[in-house]
Amino acid sequence: MSKKKAAKPVSKKAAKPAAKKAVKAAGSSSKSLLVENRVFKPSADFVKKARISSMAQYQKMHAESLKNPDKFFGREAKELSWSRPFKKVLDWKCPNAKWFVGGQLNVSVNCLDRHLDGPRKTKAAIIWEGEPGEKRVITYQQLHRDVCRFANVLKRHKVKKGDRVVIYMPMVPEAAVAMLACTRIGAMHSVVFGGFSAESIKDRVTDCGATMVITADGGYRRGAVVALKKNVDDALKGGDTPVKSVIVLRRTGQDVHIEEGRDYWWHRELEYVDAKCPAVAMDSEAPLFILYTSGSTGKPKGILHTTGGYLLHAYMTSKYVFDLRDDDVYWCTADIGWVTGHSYMVYGPLAMGATSLMYEGAPNWPENDRFWRIIEEYGVTVFYTAPTAIRAFMKWGDEWLKKHDLSSLRLLGTVGEPINPEAWMWYHNQVGGGRCPIVDTWWQTETGGHMITPIPGAIPTKPGTATLPFFGVDAAVVDDLGKEVGKDEQGKLVIRKPWPSMLRGIWGDKDRYQKTYWSDFKGWYFAGDGARRDKDGYFWIIGRIDDVLNVAGHRLGTAEVESALVSHAAVAEAAVVGRPDELKGQGVVCFVTVKEGVKTSRDLSEELKKHVRKVIGPVATPDEIRFAAALPKTRSGKIMRRLLKQIASGETLKGDTTTLEDINVIAALAAASGED
Ligand code: WTA
Repeated sequence: MSKKKAAKPVSKKAAKPAAKKAVKAAGSSSKSLLVENRVFKPSADFVKKARISSMAQYQKMHAESLKNPDKFFGREAKELSWSRPFKKVLDWKCPNAKWFVGGQLNVSVNCLDRHLDGPRKTKAAIIWEGEPGEKRVITYQQLHRDVCRFANVLKRHKVKKGDRVVIYMPMVPEAAVAMLACTRIGAMHSVVFGGFSAESIKDRVTDCGATMVITADGGYRRGAVVALKKNVDDALKGGDTPVKSVIVLRRTGQDVHIEEGRDYWWHRELEYVDAKCPAVAMDSEAPLFILYTSGSTGKPKGILHTTGGYLLHAYMTSKYVFDLRDDDVYWCTADIGWVTGHSYMVYGPLAMGATSLMYEGAPNWPENDRFWRIIEEYGVTVFYTAPTAIRAFMKWGDEWLKKHDLSSLRLLGTVGEPINPEAWMWYHNQVGGGRCPIVDTWWQTETGGHMITPIPGAIPTKPGTATLPFFGVDAAVVDDLGKEVGKDEQGKLVIRKPWPSMLRGIWGDKDRYQKTYWSDFKGWYFAGDGARRDKDGYFWIIGRIDDVLNVAGHRLGTAEVESALVSHAAVAEAAVVGRPDELKGQGVVCFVTVKEGVKTSRDLSEELKKHVRKVIGPVATPDEIRFAAALPKTRSGKIMRRLLKQIASGETLKGDTTTLEDINVIAALAAASGED
């Protein structure tokens, strides 16, 4: 048992454990029936060692970061290794930002080479555990060597500075090696999550013009093998993509097709190269990676991040928010295919010289205590996961944690969706033993790193709020005209100043970049989220207010699912909405009208679910298909999603329905079920 003292709630109400009300928290979905009014301050022990240890210190630094970003970020950026110093901190002409103008650096040098001069050389950079149970510890020196060798493999295959490489891999250290090898030679990577389909790979490969795909034969997930190479084969079938070579890591050992002249085994390629690979000095604004994410319309957009600003923000947040120290064992449970895996499994922690733990598989394999087992075994000190996982752990029961000693933990984090106070309290008490601060970090693929988050030694936390903006982040909640709303009023979350790790564009679509993010409020970034601020100025994120769903912390565009559905021969029209889901945050409900002569049935419903899985990937599997004779539309033909959402959630219908074209449609929809 840890001797550390429990964090003390500080509000007056705290004395009464009954400070919980059985009412719905404002802004939270129906997944929580608990309001928790207590305020939690970090323990004296935590504060004593913290880099930022008081609210006053945070406020002073935050004010300086907004008023004098040149000075603030100029100072912070000196902690990175530059091969040529920057001349100017920021050049901003909305919506185009240039950070650290004139500076040159290399990301892999910052994540690896610079740690080799001192004691970190033999320190664990990555601790890895495979789902079947293999264990590997890779030191900074070894990782450096692996990255250099693989960078030479890239060069052997004519990958050059500025080229795009798609990475479709399981959660193995080689995924990080592949990413870092790209950065070493200035190639851009685009990691595609292993839960996406062949079609999704093809779309991304084509959109970014990738000349190489790096994959594995398969990966392990919940005891089964995910056939990654097969998906890549299907994606490249027909040869109409720009891909020239595919590098295949042998992970699971099952038979895979190897196409002569295109596919090469990772281990074989290593035989031809040596371990010396000079890093290419990249301009601070050189593109670093593209990561596709869902928007409210059309196909996923390729979010573009560049070198210096992104790396600095990932580094700074790892330092100030995760408070990473040389003796920490830090574990981020996100997949490398999401931005969280990029910033907080690879780039942030490695730039800090920290030890980053990586686990390949599912949290409930072979049993529900796999995560707790890992925390105990490796002495994890900082743990970062998603509310959807926390809710699953709660459901599985406390006995799974009780079997393990979690006293090594000192700091917890969450990301991906609003955390309901009930889950927050459980995380705090059961996982954190009441002694670990929780950093609830709000951010997006587009923002590159944490935007609104507690600074753990300085900002008291309240269950369910991401608290206050990080340095350089000028966040506000505004009405449609851009006026700040009053206390506790709901509005749109905007960022009013550029920040170092902001996206620099959407790959190949300048107009969409301007239109999507910078047009609702001139000169400001609109995040797509709703929020409110409380009396202390804390931000409570309500969630997406555009047509983007958040399913188990994964972003999914309703338009994407709709277009997948209508690509099926039986479907005439489809409308997709989210409904509150206790575990996943949101579930996917699809309203479907079928073509003339098609008979609806349970089989068809299952077939449509499968079809969506095939088109987008298992990540988008619908929870429910509801057949309808027609969809409710306004006179101008717009589908009334608000009504569909209410129907999907089983709520009684509210609001004005006078603009409905056919009011009878509503009654029929409410009554319709997945079967006929
Ligand atoms: C949501 C993930 C509330 C939000 C890093 C955002 C959150 C979207 C939080 C981005 C949080 C993320 N509290 N909501 N702490 N973190 N979100 O691009 O709706 O996959 O817009 O990036 O997740 O999802 P993305």
